[in-house]
Amino acid sequence: MATGRGRLIVFEGIDGTGKSTQLQWAAIWLHARGYKVATLREPTRGPHGKVLRASAQAGRLTPEDERDLFLKDREWNVRVNLRPSLDAGKVVLLDRYYYSSIAYQGARGLDPQDIRRRNEAIAPRPDLVILLDLPPEIALRRIRDSRGETPNLFENLDYLRRVRALFLALKDPAIVRIDAEPSAEIVWQQVEAVLKSLFPPVK
Ligand code: TYD
Repeated sequence: MATGRGRLIVFEGIDGTGKSTQLQWAAIWLHARGYKVATLREPTRGPHGKVLRASAQAGRLTPEDERDLFLKDREWNVRVNLRPSLDAGKVVLLDRYYYSSIAYQGARGLDPQDIRRRNEAIAPRPDLVILLDLPPEIALRRIRDSRGETPNLFENLDYLRRVRALFLALKDPAIVRIDAEPSAEIVWQQVEAVLKSLFPPVK
């Protein structure tokens, strides 16, 4: 395993798949295995991320403005958080990345290939993408029931069906798709098996 440069692991999927739980468990697991870990998320808490999060509650931007703002937020995250962590040799666990732009902004009618090109011009390619897959009906039920939240403007059924289809259509050797319908513990067994094959214990 390279020591100078870190590794980038991305967690993707529609809302309600349990991404954040799996990411936290992966962080604990990698740390126990001897790796330096950083956890990050997009949209960020930075200047552009704040605007994006507000738009999910208030009223959506045009697809193009949304695409460009996520791109700016990502550029900021890469410069301020991601690159420095990778340069420090850390394993970075990232909750959403440009695959979310391809799927969510693609589902608003923008060309997925074009979104991908714009993003790969500014964003480092991940070593691993864990794509947690779940039917949107179940995802929305989980958001309503277990989190006690009202789904936001990104979260309606027809839209999420298109988002999921675009996630599943992604072609990238770094992507490992995992069925997120079983319990979090069962899903974790799958995630752990993938991580085990890539991250041997640090001596
Ligand atoms: P989410 O991960 O739910 O952030 P938080 O829990 O901090 O509010 O992301 C908010 C929404 O943003 C989510 O529904 C997916 C959407 N999104 C995009 O549409 N494009 C993107 O590039 C990213 C990163 C997220």
